[in-house]
Amino acid sequence: MSEPVVLGIESTCDETAAAIVRGRTLVSNVVASSMQEHARYGGVIPEIASRAHAEAFVPVVSKALHDADMTLSDVDAIAVSAGPGLAGCLAVGVSGAKALAWAAGKPIYGINHVIGHIAVTQLQFGAFPEDTLALIVSGGHTSLLHVKDVTRHVDVVGTTLDDAAGECFDKIARLLGFPYPGGPHIDRHGQLGDPHAIKVPQGLTQGRAGKQHPYDFSFSGVKTAVARWIEGQQAAGHEIPVDDICASLADSVATVLATKAIHGCEEYGSKTLIVGGGFSANSQLRAKLLEVGEEHGVAVRIPKIKLCTDNGAMVAMLGSNLVEAGVAPSAPDFPIDSTMPLNVISV
Ligand code: KG4
Ligand code: ZN
Repeated sequence: MSEPVVLGIESTCDETAAAIVRGRTLVSNVVASSMQEHARYGGVIPEIASRAHAEAFVPVVSKALHDADMTLSDVDAIAVSAGPGLAGCLAVGVSGAKALAWAAGKPIYGINHVIGHIAVTQLQFGAFPEDTLALIVSGGHTSLLHVKDVTRHVDVVGTTLDDAAGECFDKIARLLGFPYPGGPHIDRHGQLGDPHAIKVPQGLTQGRAGKQHPYDFSFSGVKTAVARWIEGQQAAGHEIPVDDICASLADSVATVLATKAIHGCEEYGSKTLIVGGGFSANSQLRAKLLEVGEEHGVAVRIPKIKLCTDNGAMVAMLGSNLVEAGVAPSAPDFPIDSTMPLNVISV
């Protein structure tokens, strides 16, 4: 089927979202977030997030249909994030989507949220090149993927051996007293500071470890080094140079991510790098990727901020790819998978 109309539903973490995509065109896009309810706890509370999904599900889906001037009978298929994510949150979205599919007699696709983050770039840049590399940087994932075919074949080229970049930012943000999620605060303060003020380690880039793990990442050393440095300053009674810390941290992380990703492109002969995930909203990473990409003749496709953070369009877009490619829908009893591996595209 060409130009399928797909309703995408997302509920992996703290966003309840729904969107309609026709082919590679975004028709409607609705996001409700429970982020404010978690801020005072310093992280997402699964129980609160699940309740928020249960409340927002029907209003969000009906608004997405309404904005598209459609009813459920107009869609060709429903796609929903089946993982990875918080189990209780996934259960709400998947159960709701299954009920809609069953009542309307529509095929349903349980898709991988992380692959959705890279699929969404097609709404802005068009179809994928046939064989390409993708850098995924979200709250829970930092990985370099080889995308042979976004509907059938994705391999992991490299991944973080410990913390994800987003996790590392969120933890340091907490030390600096920023509310959850801390990433955007580090971004903002980093723009005001000196990126070379503090020496922040660049994990797995030097010597033997660097050679053994050319495309893997490690951010726990970064986190520890910055935490120790802050403690040292505090113990000495010095004022904490927040802007400089943020700038140095952001520069170090962006440099490692961009350098490894672009080297991967050269190694795999990819003239394009697809970038996705909530952390790709980070301004220092965006600038660094475009800079290193230009130096090496790699076109970097980073979506606009609205499509970087969790949304329903990414789910609908991957669903549209699956329908168009003739991939079989998921079984009506498909499970959720909170630790879904990155080489699983749909269940
Ligand atoms: O993809 P995402 O929305 O959720 C997951 O699927 O994990 O990613 C959320 C992560 C959080 O760690 C958040 O702090 C980070 O993305 N983030 C940022 C920025 N915007 C979001 N990190 C740094 N700079 C930003 N501007
Ligand atoms: Zn995400």
